[in-house]
Amino acid sequence: MSQVVKSVIGKPVDRVDGRLKVTGGARYAAEFKVANVAHGVLVMSTIASGSIRSIDTKAALSAPGVLEVITHLNAPRLSFPERPQTMDDYIAPVFGRSLPVLQDKTIYFNGQPIAVVVAETLEQAEYAATLVKVVYDESKHVTSLEAEIARAFPPQEGLMKESPTDRPADVVRGDPEALSKAEVVVDETYTIPIEHHNPMELLSTIAEWSNGKLTLHDKTQWVPNTQMHVAMVFGLREEDVRVISPFVGGAFGSSLRPWSHPVVAAMAARAVRRPVKLVVKRQQMFTSHGHRPYTVQRVALGASRDGRLTAIVHEGYAQTSLYEENTESLLGATRMLYASPNCITRYRLVRGNIQTPLYMRGPGECSGVFALDSALDELAYKLKIDPLEMRIRNHAGKDPSNGLPWSSKSLLECYRRGAEAFGWSRRTFEPRSMRDGRYLVGMGMATGTSPMFRMPASARARIFSDGTAVVQSSASDMGPGTWTTMQIVGAEALAMDLSRVRSELGDSTLPKASVHGGSGTTASVGSAIHEAALAVRAKLLTLASNDSRSPLTGATEAQVTFADGRISLKSDASRGESYSDILRRNRMDSIEATVDSQPGDENKKFSMHAFCAHFIEVRVDADLGSIRASRIVSACGGGRIMNEKTARSQLSGGVVGGLGMALMEETVMDHRMGRFVNANLGEYHVPVNADCPTIEAFFVEERDEHVNPLGAKGIGEVSYVGIAAAVANAVFHATGKRIRHLPITLDKLL
Ligand code: MOS
Repeated sequence: MSQVVKSVIGKPVDRVDGRLKVTGGARYAAEFKVANVAHGVLVMSTIASGSIRSIDTKAALSAPGVLEVITHLNAPRLSFPERPQTMDDYIAPVFGRSLPVLQDKTIYFNGQPIAVVVAETLEQAEYAATLVKVVYDESKHVTSLEAEIARAFPPQEGLMKESPTDRPADVVRGDPEALSKAEVVVDETYTIPIEHHNPMELLSTIAEWSNGKLTLHDKTQWVPNTQMHVAMVFGLREEDVRVISPFVGGAFGSSLRPWSHPVVAAMAARAVRRPVKLVVKRQQMFTSHGHRPYTVQRVALGASRDGRLTAIVHEGYAQTSLYEENTESLLGATRMLYASPNCITRYRLVRGNIQTPLYMRGPGECSGVFALDSALDELAYKLKIDPLEMRIRNHAGKDPSNGLPWSSKSLLECYRRGAEAFGWSRRTFEPRSMRDGRYLVGMGMATGTSPMFRMPASARARIFSDGTAVVQSSASDMGPGTWTTMQIVGAEALAMDLSRVRSELGDSTLPKASVHGGSGTTASVGSAIHEAALAVRAKLLTLASNDSRSPLTGATEAQVTFADGRISLKSDASRGESYSDILRRNRMDSIEATVDSQPGDENKKFSMHAFCAHFIEVRVDADLGSIRASRIVSACGGGRIMNEKTARSQLSGGVVGGLGMALMEETVMDHRMGRFVNANLGEYHVPVNADCPTIEAFFVEERDEHVNPLGAKGIGEVSYVGIAAAVANAVFHATGKRIRHLPITLDKLL
């Protein structure tokens, strides 16, 4: 008699924390109730370059309620580590020393924290912050990438060799002269402005010292990394810093690394001998964390007349700060996405008086693929080949960058099913050939791709004698549904009903999680939870098997089935017992297993990426130039899907983020002042519901035996990638105008 094992993986499961979130029960960093908390407010520099000549805090100190004002003159001397510094730093590789906040008088950028005012109430701190008087010695700043491009330099290399995140300065594949030999060439330059993540939740920390130990309630995408960073800065043992971060109210990359605020909050709390809450204000968010770097990209494509790529040249210039080198995979997709025998990529950084940039929503690929897939569309038009057909002709059957087979790839299926759902065959080729009344209708498409990361991560699984279980890891959840996914992964591997398993996340006292980024949480933390669950149920079997009182005496793993919280013999399902029976008989309240999970050598044997195909229809007002996305279909191959509901939501969310990049998002720098002029949500535009058409986002079924034990690819970022190109291509189809500088706003069409 064989048992049917119920699987919860891939079913649409409601968020387990949904009720908590809509009732306010879910606590975000600044919402924790901490007794006797004082409030910190940052003071920011108002020049972009130079130094502080004097800083007068007398008036602020004598304002009502003020407890302390800390500047570089009275701050403790701290030790800011060089990065990289952590166990799997390759996901957030920034070379240099993080901003030595309040350590000296140097001003690197406008909006740099230069003081913190601590007061009894937030209002008192806010007011006193306005009383801090600063005199600067100003020097010439540079905030324009173009102005400094002659001083571009290759980024440091060596950290990420053989990793899919490798981002070498120069790569040549095949014939370096191939472009000049091509039958047809397009050669264009594309720019992407600075963009900011603009999550709903502000950067916030509550810092509390007790007997030399520090507790931080912090908004972070990487609990153990914040713990390690703050411990290093203050010279503490790691275990003397506890970081608690159960929920993150959106981040999109902005909280991948600890910025200045947790350090300043801890500094302030130590100074006033009280817990201090520090919430970065919305305007300050634009310089308190990094941003999508400003990039200038030249893409030259050469092809045969039948539309096969014979040469790709992609040169990318990206801005970084004065004191750190931030890199991202700007050119990585170009080396692997299309089957060209010849490919040259060249990556250069340009310094400026800005905060260090960092990953933002599909970092690197988002920017690189905008240029690449725009250029491919331009080439398709030059050759009079349908843009979808152009991509199919250049589909890569194996990874052109390293010759490895794909762990799985269903991009052709995404093209086919996406085109069908969208009605691509109804499209007419010529620009301006489709119209609906006053609207020019355009249809465009592009490819999205994102590399898959499995990082080292640890997890614990524990089964209780009452028939419940918990799975634990210190992972963050910034909104994709990690609490739910981990519960699903745990329940599946424990072979228990979903309602009997809980997850616990976001606390540094739990086993170490990998970064909640790079679309890698399910692959990494999920795999760790999966392995921990298998380990604990194996322990239970050993208990039973070694026990003459058990119906499972002598049974081996191969002879039993785990289902519904029971172990039973495959040969006779009536012979078995529940997990609770085993624990109770042994007088145990619970049994647990903790594993440190590691990737194997699969990324040496396979190239692992998720892919998607985006199809977008836009309507452009023929007189006004206003652009609306009117239909979007996005088909994705994302490996095995854990939770159909939250996964589809992530896919649609990525599309919306991509629409923002395509049509709205731009942080505008006033180069005369070296200062952002739209550092607020009124003038930094992101899509709202009214900007978003119906999005038909779906997964094509994909089995991947290689990527990780769950077969799950990351899906958090792949759908952002390619949207901007698809929109630009649709706008070209509608209007005949090729916009190579994001965002595509109506002024560029007039
Ligand atoms: Mo993601 S941009 O690695 O949070």
